[in-house]
Amino acid sequence: MNLLEQKIVAEGKVLSDSVLKVDSFLNHQIDPKLMKYIGEEFARLFADAGITKILTIESSGIAPSVMAGLSLGVPVVFARKRKSLTLVDNLYSAKVHSFTKNETNEISVSNSYLSEDDVVFVIDDFLANGQAALGLIDIVKQADATLAGVGIVIEKGFQDGGKLIRDQGIRVESLAIIDSLSAGKVTFKEGTTI
Ligand code: G4P
Ligand code: NA
Ligand code: NA
Repeated sequence: MNLLEQKIVAEGKVLSDSVLKVDSFLNHQIDPKLMKYIGEEFARLFADAGITKILTIESSGIAPSVMAGLSLGVPVVFARKRKSLTLVDNLYSAKVHSFTKNETNEISVSNSYLSEDDVVFVIDDFLANGQAALGLIDIVKQADATLAGVGIVIEKGFQDGGKLIRDQGIRVESLAIIDSLSAGKVTFKEGTTI
């Protein structure tokens, strides 16, 4: 098990067959050392991709993205979920549907921070149904930028997002892939169960 998987084992709480709570290190309180490890892993995996920019979505994508940006030496842009008072430039925007919340939100990024010259690495904390990542990928397309791939902290391999994105020929690297959360247990893809 890698450091992230160990942390999931030690502190993750299985809320149901489909939801893992990781508020102690990723979604509420943040573990900076773990974020540093995550950033270095993403940087190692995409070292040769020529990345010029990281694109993520507020709020939980920001911490791992900043550490990856530090390791790769590139800026980090986060898509906003709410319209900002000061975000008055021309916007790239995409609709993101949440199946769990049954609501659709518009995410947006100023066109000042993404251009056709960029090679973009999309990062998010969770990959479930993939709608947030697909929205970010759509924004990369609107900017005519190049997509290097997608980096995910925790992928729920039993949901559709990973397949949806990989089937488009897009490189997806997840640092932990969960195969199952049934019976209150976390089973990782490589077969480790706790
Ligand atoms: P959905 O279609 O299953 O609803 O998934 P969606 O991608 O819309 O995710 C909704 C929110 O829930 C996202 O965070 C996503 O990161 C998070 N999420 C999805 N599955 C899990 C899970 O098993 N555990 C945890 N901890 N989070 C999960 P968000 O609302 O955008 O919030 P933020 O944390 O980024 O601010
Ligand atoms: Na989240
Ligand atoms: Na997120």
